[in-house]
Amino acid sequence: MPFVFQNLRSGSASVSSDEQFVQAVKDGLSGQPKRLPSWLIFDDLGSEIFTEITQLPGYHPAQCEFEIFRTYKETITDLLGKTKFRVIELGAGDGGKTRILLEHFIQNHLTFEYVPIDISEGAIKNLVALLESNFSQSGMSVTGLAADYFDGLQMISAQSHVRNIVLFLGSTIGNMGLPSALQFVQKLRNSLSVGDYVMIGFDLMKPPKLLYAAYNDSTGIFEKFNLHLLDVLNDKLGANFVKDQFVQQGQYNPRTHAVESFIYSMREQVVRIDVLKKTFSFGSWEAMQTEHSYKYTIAEIEMLAETSGCRIVTHLFDANQHFVNSIWEVIK
Ligand SMILES: C[S@@+](CC[C@H](N)C(=O)[O-])C[C@H]1O[C@@H](n2cnc3c(N)ncnc32)[C@H](O)[C@@H]1O
Repeated sequence: MPFVFQNLRSGSASVSSDEQFVQAVKDGLSGQPKRLPSWLIFDDLGSEIFTEITQLPGYHPAQCEFEIFRTYKETITDLLGKTKFRVIELGAGDGGKTRILLEHFIQNHLTFEYVPIDISEGAIKNLVALLESNFSQSGMSVTGLAADYFDGLQMISAQSHVRNIVLFLGSTIGNMGLPSALQFVQKLRNSLSVGDYVMIGFDLMKPPKLLYAAYNDSTGIFEKFNLHLLDVLNDKLGANFVKDQFVQQGQYNPRTHAVESFIYSMREQVVRIDVLKKTFSFGSWEAMQTEHSYKYTIAEIEMLAETSGCRIVTHLFDANQHFVNSIWEVIK
């Protein structure tokens, strides 16, 4: 079975993704308060640091999702049946959790295609190479796409003659506020056909102390992850951030229902960004928001499914009901 890697972010597509990046930084640093979206962090090293986060014992969103996949791999396999199908994963990263499912499908001699999509070229290249070295003699074929979610989906949607299941894991949907998440699932539905499945990993609302502990690890990996954004800006835009003049902390905000992560400037300073031909002033202890992780209720998840023309097939919970992988079927 073929194992293929394609980069949709090269050539003219790379110009448009660079422009998007530049615009996001310009808008984010010009606003008050300063705020940069978390997708900016995911260059190849950013993806690798995120993989370290998923291995932290205290980071419940990842540990719960691993548990759910181990517990319910049979249920998910039964749902897909024996006919050929396609697994599309948006923002696949290292595909660590998905591998539990893929291995189970392979052990059950199923024939399927796996299409991981991620803006991190390194993450997708590594994932395709790893899967090829382990599973080249199986019923799985792999097409890895380095692409934005919807560019990747658009490229493969014309080729669909089989049932799709789209995975959107890791509580990545939490990086959007509720209105943006609704737009996202509606756009996703429009890329699919009636009968396709969607499985989304939602982190559920829980006592704020538990949320605080999950996002403030004693080993400092969250801080390393968030401060990596400054390296990305230095590298991609010729900025002159000095990383050790900033610190990071995450906290739950009851007004936005999200864990918000902030980078604090430890002193008054001016940062120059060559590509923007601009300088930006930071006050002493000024905060810049770098992450937003919305915490869902089941009622909100059901609203997202229904409003986007899907029915809930099942909610798969971990033992503590801290997290849910919600499976939907496109019905209209
Ligand atoms: C929170 S991580 C989740 C990774 C993995 N799914 C997991 O559960 O561990 C989000 C992933 O989405 C990718 N990503 C973010 N924005 C994206 C976009 N617009 N298009 C494609 N991938 C994106 C990042 O590179 C990153 O690998």
